[in-house]
Amino acid sequence: MSAPHPKIQVRDLCKAFGREPVLTGVDLEIGAGEAWVLLGASGSGKTVLLKCIIGLVRPDAGSVVIDGDETNSARTRRVANGQLEKIGMLFQRSALFDSLKVWENIAFRLLQTKQVSRQEARDIAIRRLALVHMGADVADLMPAELSGGMQKRVALARAIAGEPEILLLDEPTAGLDPILSNGISDLIAEIVRELNTTVISITNDIDSARVISDHVAMLHDGAICWTGPTGDLTESGDAHVAEYIHGWVEEQARLAAHARPAPEGDGIAESPSPSAGSHGGPTATDT
Ligand SMILES: Nc1ncnc2c1ncn2[C@@H]1O[C@H](COP(=O)(O)OP(=O)(O)O)[C@@H](O)[C@H]1O
Ligand SMILES: [Mg+2]
Repeated sequence: MSAPHPKIQVRDLCKAFGREPVLTGVDLEIGAGEAWVLLGASGSGKTVLLKCIIGLVRPDAGSVVIDGDETNSARTRRVANGQLEKIGMLFQRSALFDSLKVWENIAFRLLQTKQVSRQEARDIAIRRLALVHMGADVADLMPAELSGGMQKRVALARAIAGEPEILLLDEPTAGLDPILSNGISDLIAEIVRELNTTVISITNDIDSARVISDHVAMLHDGAICWTGPTGDLTESGDAHVAEYIHGWVEEQARLAAHARPAPEGDGIAESPSPSAGSHGGPTATDT
C-alpha cells in the first residue's frame, strides 16, 4: 500500500490575468493536521493561490488535489463540491456580509443548505462565537457595530462554522494593533489544536507566523522558492526569505520608533484602517 494522501497537493499551478502571469508553477504538499503560513511580497499572488485552492479562481494549468481527489477539472466537479465543503476560509479584510446579523454571517452556509432550522443554526453560531471568546450578546448585532478586531473574530467563527478539515486564513491579523494581533494569533493556534484542522494562513507578520504555523512556504516570482519548518525561518539559506525577514525586522523597528501610547479602554480599539503595502517587503498593516 502506498502512503496516505497528503491533505492538499498543489501541482504546477499556473494562473495569469490577461498577459500578467501571477502563478507560474506552484508546487506545494501539505500533510493532514499541518499548519502552514504562506509568505510573499504584496501582490505576489498569495490570495490568488488560496482562491485557486478553494475553487474561487480557476487556474490556467496544474492541479489542486485534496485527499487524493483532483478538484479543478470540470469532469470531477461533483467530487470537487464534496471536497470544497471541507474548507473554511477567512477572507482578507474579513468580508462579512454587512446586511446580515453576526449570527447569520456565522451560520451562512448552514442557512443556505437548510440542513438545520434557523433556531438550531443560531445556537450553533453562538457556540462558534464562544470558541472565539465572544458572548451570545453580539449574535444579533450587525457587523458595522463591531470594531475591526471583533469583526476578525466573527470572520474566524464563520470560517470554522462547519468544523472544516481545512482552514484558509487570508491575513487574519492585518490592520490590528500588536496586542489584538497577538490575541488573534493565540486564538487561531488554540482553535487549530482543538479542531485538528489543516491550515494555510497568509500573513505579513512573522511574530504571528511563529504562533500559528509549524511550516512556511515562501512565494516569489510566481512559484514557491522555499519551504521549511517555521523555526528555521531565520536560517533558511534562501535569499528571498532572508530579504523578506530583513524587511520585516526593519519595518518593526521603524514602527517601534513611531509608536504611540497604547489606547486605553476595552482593548478593542484598533489602528487606522488597513492599507495595502506597495513596496516589495511586508506591509505595515499589522500595526
Ligand atoms: N480577479 C483579478 N483580475 C485581475 N488581476 C488580479 C485578480 N486577482 C488578482 N489579480 C492580480 O494578481 C496579482 C496577485 O494578487 P494577490 O494574490 O491578491 O496578491 P497578494 O500576494 O498580495 O495576496 C496582483 O497583481 C493582482 O492585481
Ligand atoms: Mg492578498
